[in-house]
Amino acid sequence: MALLEIVKWPAPVLDTPADPVTEFDEDLGKLVSNMFETMYAAPGVGLAAVQVGVPKRLFVMDCSGGKDPQQRVVLVNPEVLRVEGNQNGEEGCLSFPGIFTPVERSLRAIVRAQDLKGEWFEIDGMELTARCMLHETDHCDGIVFLDKMSTIKREIVKRKIKKLQKAGKWD
Ligand code: NI
Repeated sequence: MALLEIVKWPAPVLDTPADPVTEFDEDLGKLVSNMFETMYAAPGVGLAAVQVGVPKRLFVMDCSGGKDPQQRVVLVNPEVLRVEGNQNGEEGCLSFPGIFTPVERSLRAIVRAQDLKGEWFEIDGMELTARCMLHETDHCDGIVFLDKMSTIKREIVKRKIKKLQKAGKWD
């Protein structure tokens, strides 16, 4: 296994819809193992392939932060089937290190995806799980959490990033 480099916004790969995964082979398994290692090391609870520069529709997630093996899951070609309710809470993204801001999301999300063998399954998640699945599925569609913020908040965050870039702290 190896740690992968996490790309920071505004890398173009983060703003581009990713391609569906069609090959469920050894290479996919390797990529996913490395993505899990990279996510745990960051640390984070979700990581999409586009965030390590791979333009494919998949993400890894573990909302327990490595404490509960049952929550370690890979979602390949995810599709949001249904959402319900609302939640508003602080959200972060490994491609925006140090930026945390409230983002409104659905309280519940039912997402369909394929596993590493190509078998379809569904996850019915609430709260953090729903937030994470929606955030990561957005990544697969070339959408970042900045796009989900109000115009004012988005401008504040963009200004903050510009300052960090000028200071050489965001590359
Ligand atoms: Ni993210």
